[in-house]
Amino acid sequence: MKVTWKIADGTSISAEVATGVSLMEAAIANNVPRITGDCGGNLACATCHVFVDPDWVDKVGPPDGMEDGMLDMTEVGRAQHSRLSCQIIASEDLDGLVLHVPV
Ligand code: FES
Repeated sequence: MKVTWKIADGTSISAEVATGVSLMEAAIANNVPRITGDCGGNLACATCHVFVDPDWVDKVGPPDGMEDGMLDMTEVGRAQHSRLSCQIIASEDLDGLVLHVPV
């Protein structure tokens, strides 16, 4: 699937991501700024916070209970479409996904 991270300076990074890979891992592999994934995807750090583009919210879906709790710990305040990208797993259903990197 293809994913695009939009960065606050107006630039963006796009990459092909293999099915089954988390979008935190994909962000690190593609040097997306500000996504560090400190806990390795274990829902313990919130350093993989992204805002899902409004056009994709329905497909990506809401956070589950554990993720919902961690979203209150993000460095940049939580917003309506916040998700932790270690919990979004690449699949063909999400081909074309757009994520915004918080600043
Ligand atoms: S990488 Fe730590 S919560 Fe996602």
